[in-house]
Amino acid sequence: MCGIVGYVGSREATEVLIEGLRRLEYRGYDSAGVAVLNGSGVQVRKAVGRLSALEDELRTNPAKGGVGIGHTRWATHGVPNLVNSHPHVSYDGKLSIIHNGIIENYRELKNELLEQGVQFKSDTDTEVVAHLLAKNYDGDLLATVHKVLKRLRGAYAIAVCHSDEPNRIIATRVGSPLVIGVGEGENFLASDVPALLKYTRKVIFLAEGCLAEVTREGVRLFNTEMQPIEATVTETDLTLDAAEKEGYEHFMLKEVHEQPHALSETIRGRIEGERIDLSELGLTADMLHGVNRIAILACGTSLYSGMVGKYLLERFTRIPTETWSASEFRYADPVIDPGMLVVAVSQSGETADTLEALRIVKAGGARTIAVCNVMGSSIPRHCDATLYTRAGPEIGVASTKAYTTQLAGFVLLAVGIGRLLNRVSDVEEARIVQGLRELPAQVKSLLDEDIVAVKRCAKRYKDVFNFMYIGRHFNYPTAMEGALKLKEISYIHAEGYAGGEMKHGPLALVEGTFPTIAIAPQGKTREKLISNVQEIKARKGVVVMVSTHGDEEARELADYLIEIPACEEELSPILAVVPLQLLAYYTATQLGRDVDKPRNLAKSVTVE
Ligand code: M6R
Repeated sequence: MCGIVGYVGSREATEVLIEGLRRLEYRGYDSAGVAVLNGSGVQVRKAVGRLSALEDELRTNPAKGGVGIGHTRWATHGVPNLVNSHPHVSYDGKLSIIHNGIIENYRELKNELLEQGVQFKSDTDTEVVAHLLAKNYDGDLLATVHKVLKRLRGAYAIAVCHSDEPNRIIATRVGSPLVIGVGEGENFLASDVPALLKYTRKVIFLAEGCLAEVTREGVRLFNTEMQPIEATVTETDLTLDAAEKEGYEHFMLKEVHEQPHALSETIRGRIEGERIDLSELGLTADMLHGVNRIAILACGTSLYSGMVGKYLLERFTRIPTETWSASEFRYADPVIDPGMLVVAVSQSGETADTLEALRIVKAGGARTIAVCNVMGSSIPRHCDATLYTRAGPEIGVASTKAYTTQLAGFVLLAVGIGRLLNRVSDVEEARIVQGLRELPAQVKSLLDEDIVAVKRCAKRYKDVFNFMYIGRHFNYPTAMEGALKLKEISYIHAEGYAGGEMKHGPLALVEGTFPTIAIAPQGKTREKLISNVQEIKARKGVVVMVSTHGDEEARELADYLIEIPACEEELSPILAVVPLQLLAYYTATQLGRDVDKPRNLAKSVTVE
């Protein structure tokens, strides 16, 4: 999982490449590098670590020229060091390549090249492609790339340039994203649109397996048979502002505060009067005919939204639903049949495990729906229908607005399907629709009011080593998500547990300094969770409670109280998670962590 960018034009390529890489750093930040052509060879500059290290390198050792490719790396093959950094250069020093993805058969290809006497410098799969291209080079880079592609297995987006053809970049993709930016007398390519926005809004999403030749004069596209194909240029409505921090210290904080707007966007046009309208998905009672079970597939935070999704779908559709970690599902020899409806959940739409699990269920004849944030990404493209969450770009590695909008998406989906199947009454639907209408303002008020309480709590507990999060039913996944947020950005160990399970083991951990975050909004399981809190208090544990405004019992029990507005039980996970996002954020910032780019992680996990 890496970010790639390319430029051909009359500007200094390095300026464009660095700007693009800055926008792509969320895809990985183990190292960064550029290769620039100036008509008399290729100049490669690399640095380990953040992009700023590469900028320093370029200040000391500039690379001039108007054609170049750049890369920001998240290590998969080979440790993060200088030799493993991209771009990689062929043995003859003429061809350079950047790559996002994995070449699965690289060992076999490497052995073949070793036998031919090629010497390798790095441990990467990408270097194999550089040498293979050089071996096959016949004076036409486009034809060479096309020929060599047939030998590659795996998922990749690559861009290649050659010093004998200093005016063009050849790019292609299979299973990894690649977008081309169309300019005036200059053209671009990148892994994601924000990398291009400073220069152009006109983009071409390169289709799977196709090739692109990018020159100053234009972009030519070819299909897998090397027949020219028409480029569909679209004008993106994404703004650069949306990709910037807008005055917030971190993207994560900005994205937490964007939730009221993001939630309004998710429900916009999908509720009409007292009804949910999912006609845009093309869902009909006919399409659902014969569905006898639902499987939700996702990873990480999306998995937790899927766990809430299970409760929602079962409540409103009465169809048995199970939620699977996509990485487990793939290897669990799952039973798949055409009676299965699969919901694949993903912010990025590119998560490799989810995508692979999706391929398996499709092959088994299941019907598929995506809940996804990124328009045109791979997961929606593989599904029969998509509910886009419309949260806008999420840059912080820790998922926040994507999560709450996925939850709102599941509410829409569950009630919408339930109504199509005549299993939701008008009164029930109207109750949920009203709750959804109130939601954005409620999240806004929560963000305005509770920050002080959360900050105090973060300051008090930032130095503990372990946290427990407990919740029940709809808010059991909230406990898991709260714990994940804290783990990934503060590096404090945290566990999310079902409240009722505490007495079956984890209660042994509780003593005077051990903090438990108890999520107990009003609803069917509130009383039960209060009992669990009492068990913790009886053992002198410290309890931070997230409960509904005016819950006096919670006020009496809690060492710290965080209140959320009263809402429908089914919507409570959306409100309850917000203070937990902030608790993780303020804990991490007080510890001086790199909130938007936590160690060892990347935003989009496009490898298994
Ligand atoms: O893009 P996806 O929703 O498919 O990503 C899945 C996970 O990698 C992601 O949610 C991850 O767990 C987040 N960093 C959590 O904040």
